[in-house]
Amino acid sequence: MKIFSGTANPALTKKVCEYLEIEMGRCNIDVFADGEKIIKLEDDVRGKDCFVIQSTCKPVEVNLVELLIFIDCLRRASVQRITAVIPYFGYARQDRKDEGRVPITAKLVANLITTAGANRVLAIDLHAPQLQGFFDIPVDHLTGELVLTKYFKEKKFEDLTVVSPDVGNMKIAARYASDLGGDLAIVHKRRINGSVVEAQQIIGDVKNRTVLMCDDIIATAGTVCSAAKMVKERGAKAVYVGATHGVLCEPALERLSQAPIDEIVITDTIPFKDEARKIGVKVLSVADMLGEAIRRIHNNESISSLFNSIE
Ligand code: R5P
Repeated sequence: MKIFSGTANPALTKKVCEYLEIEMGRCNIDVFADGEKIIKLEDDVRGKDCFVIQSTCKPVEVNLVELLIFIDCLRRASVQRITAVIPYFGYARQDRKDEGRVPITAKLVANLITTAGANRVLAIDLHAPQLQGFFDIPVDHLTGELVLTKYFKEKKFEDLTVVSPDVGNMKIAARYASDLGGDLAIVHKRRINGSVVEAQQIIGDVKNRTVLMCDDIIATAGTVCSAAKMVKERGAKAVYVGATHGVLCEPALERLSQAPIDEIVITDTIPFKDEARKIGVKVLSVADMLGEAIRRIHNNESISSLFNSIE
């Protein structure tokens, strides 16, 4: 087995390698003066089972193209199998034509990864689980829920209501509620534009309850902040937020620092920003979960049983 890292999140790859107790594969990733990337593997990989870990987070195009080049590089080096490990899959939200004359970029990106030569994909919270079907190769789909619920379980909330900050996330929120033993409430939001969201209505009772809001992505934080304001106005005692992918683009940090939220917890699928630490955002690592999934893929063991075995 060989594990390589793109430049998007080498800290996460390092932790995965520590979990697996193997050295990270050696390679040189460079940029020509004109901006083109060049990758050179410095380990012999012929016949090896290779994993390349690369989140396609910001700068999205740079990280995506680097992943494609990496896959091509491995393929041409005669490896036995290539698994693209994509902790955060950018463009996942562009997964349908919800209005006329728009692309389905998530499908385009899946096509590019497959065409480059990936044999499998290992991803975490693809925004909508049906995105697995965008790839014509096997996809193992993990969820940040495993690490987030473990963290929140330790808080032993006795009066918990899990709130889905939008209708699309309802199924995930229902799973959190069942894992953590709480009620369920749903906020109906209206997206005014890419960064402005308005919580319009809430189904369920949050008065005098501890609220845990869970989402797959915090991007501009419009969704969680407007939902947090609404649950507070409806009498919630405390508000916790758990999200897998901390995209945290402008003006997320400003919004989060001003929102009535007691604790924000994300994972390290995307490199953690120091500014986020300064406003108290907590980060949990998905490295052990990814490492264990990689070990099982390599040994042809079940991944679905992983969901029961991670404590
Ligand atoms: C939406 O469908 C997603 O699950 C997230 O709620 C959304 O992408 C978060 O975006 P933002 O933080 O910009 O409101």
